[in-house]
Order: sequence, then structure tokens, then C-alpha cells
Amino acid sequence: MKDPQSGIFSDQSTHFHMLEYGINVGVTLSEIRGDLDRVLRIVRKPVHLVVGMGATLWRLINPDAIPSGLRSFDSVSGVDGMVAPSTQNDILLWLHSESHDELVDAVMAVNEIMKPSAALHVDLPGFRYRDSRDLTGFVDGSANPKADQRQEVALVPEGQPGAGGSFMMTQKWIHKLVEFKKLNVVAQEKVIGRTKTDSIELEGDDMPADSHVSRTDLKVDEEGVKMYRRSVPFANAQEQGLYFLAFAGELRRFDLLLSRMYGNYGDGLRDRLLDFSTPVTGGYWFAPSKPDLHAALQR
Ligand code: HEM
Repeated sequence: MKDPQSGIFSDQSTHFHMLEYGINVGVTLSEIRGDLDRVLRIVRKPVHLVVGMGATLWRLINPDAIPSGLRSFDSVSGVDGMVAPSTQNDILLWLHSESHDELVDAVMAVNEIMKPSAALHVDLPGFRYRDSRDLTGFVDGSANPKADQRQEVALVPEGQPGAGGSFMMTQKWIHKLVEFKKLNVVAQEKVIGRTKTDSIELEGDDMPADSHVSRTDLKVDEEGVKMYRRSVPFANAQEQGLYFLAFAGELRRFDLLLSRMYGNYGDGLRDRLLDFSTPVTGGYWFAPSKPDLHAALQR
């Protein structure tokens, strides 16, 4: 029976925190197991936690549950000199909650546990912006699978190694909001491929072939290349962007959509969104099912 980490599908949170760690040289697997076990014990409702591991760590920590295709994120070199860099780390802890206070307490406690054995490379708070919009002002998540379909899309199917776990992709994108806002609303809508107010997909001649939706709404052999997106906006006075975070039952879906966005799909097109946002991190992770995660920590 599929028993995924429940934080993947808890979707009422308003505050988020992303922590990416690299394990220090000389730290043993048993120390990492102990740390993660303590982390799992201290994070309690109303805070949700998803633990993701890089391919190298997961292969070592639970060789019995390696899903097919698991690997690290490779940098993508696109057309027009555009690059999606790899900054693959070992551990991703994605915490979120409706309570900012409880979330901050949990983040501090988690980091105290991790500190001796791992270096913190990404320490990023984020939030739900308005009615689940990206900071460009467009609703993010409209085409996401709903209800039971979320599990179908996000989880490794029953009967396969790693069943009930989920591949994750993360990228910290920095927006050029001043540039984007110079466009009038109709032009902005053509970049995204949906209307701004109501998030209705553009149709026919109104929908450019290089809009973000045109590049990411893909069918291969009649089958949709689907993922469950849980991206998190972040902002301070100087820097605004989106921590793209998505779950899928197969890693190749991420590769496919990145190749579509970066102009490597063979149709001469690349995503117009790349003119207004740039990724500065990139990682692939495996978020194991609860039983596989617990087995990994008890070994
Ligand atoms: C700056 C980064 C990004 C921003 C601001 C962004 C924003 C959006 C927005 C506003 C939509 C339309 C509404 C919706 O269906 O959610 C959308 C759709 C989508 N995005 Fe992104 N996105 C970003 C990066 C990515 C990346 C890196 C991928 C995958 C590699 C991706 C995959 C998708 C998919 C699969 C859809 C739904 C397409 C459909 O079936 O209609 N996005 N995104």
C-alpha cells in the first residue's frame, strides 16, 4: 500500500521554509540516520515536513528502495546561452505550516540537529502570495492534478522499487519583476499562456507557441507529462522569486519539460518566461514513502 510522506499533499499552509544541506566530509551514515530520525521526531503538527534526499545519499542509506531513473540534477544548457545550473545537495527539508510561529520554531530546532553534520546551502523562507499566485501576479497551480489524481501523478507506482515515494525537482528562480511589469497585461498573459485575473488558458491564435503553458503542457504518446507543483514564492526588498518545487512519479518528466523550456526539444522554441526569471539552484531528490524512510533510518 502506498504510504507517502503526508506533507507532500497537505495544502493549507501559508508559510514555508526550504533547507538544503550538504553532508560534511567524515560524517558517517549512522550519524546522518540519527540526525534525520531526531528531525522526524521533533517536527509535529501544525508543521508539515517532507524529507528529500539526493541520489547519492539515498543509494547509500536505503539500497533496497532505489526507484528507476534516480539521479542528480545535471545543469541544462539551453539556446541563447541560457543555463539552468545544478547545485545538487544531499538533503532537502521542506517545512510548511499555517502557523508562522510554529514553523520558525521547528526550522530553528531542525537546524540545531543538522548543524554538526551538514552545511546549510539553502535557507529560504517563503509564503503563500495572495490567492496562491506567483509574484508575477499569475495564479500558480491551476493545472495541477486534483484530489486522488495528485497521488497518481506524484508517486512511484505500486510494485516498483521505491513505490509510494516521489521524485522531486527544486529550483530557486530569481524574477526580473521590474522588466515583467513593464509589459502590459495582455503581453504578460502571452508570456504565461493564461489570463492574469482568472487564470483561464489562452486559446487558438491568442496562445503563443513559446508561452510557458505551451512549453509545459506536453503529451508524449497521447499521455500527459504531469507533475504536482507546490512552488513557493519568496521576497525581500531586494530579491523576489519562486522556489519551484514539484513532485512526480518519474524523473524523466522533469527532464522533458526542462528541455521544452530551454529550447532543447528540437522544435526551435524556448520558454518566453526565461526572459523574466533565472534559476540559480537546481536539485533532484527522492522523497521516500514513510515505510522506506523509516527502514532507511533503522538500518
Ligand atoms: C519562474 C519559474 C516559474 C514560474 C513563475 C511558473 C509559473 C507558472 C504559471 C503561472 C503557470 C500557469 C498556471 C498553472 O497551471 O499553474 C504554470 C504552469 C505550469 N508550469 Fe510553471 N512556472 C515556473 C517554472 C516551471 C518549471 C521549471 C516547470 C517544470 C520543469 C514548470 C512546469 C509547469 C507545468 C507542468 C505547468 C502546467 C501546464 C499545463 O498543463 O497547463 N514550471 N507555471
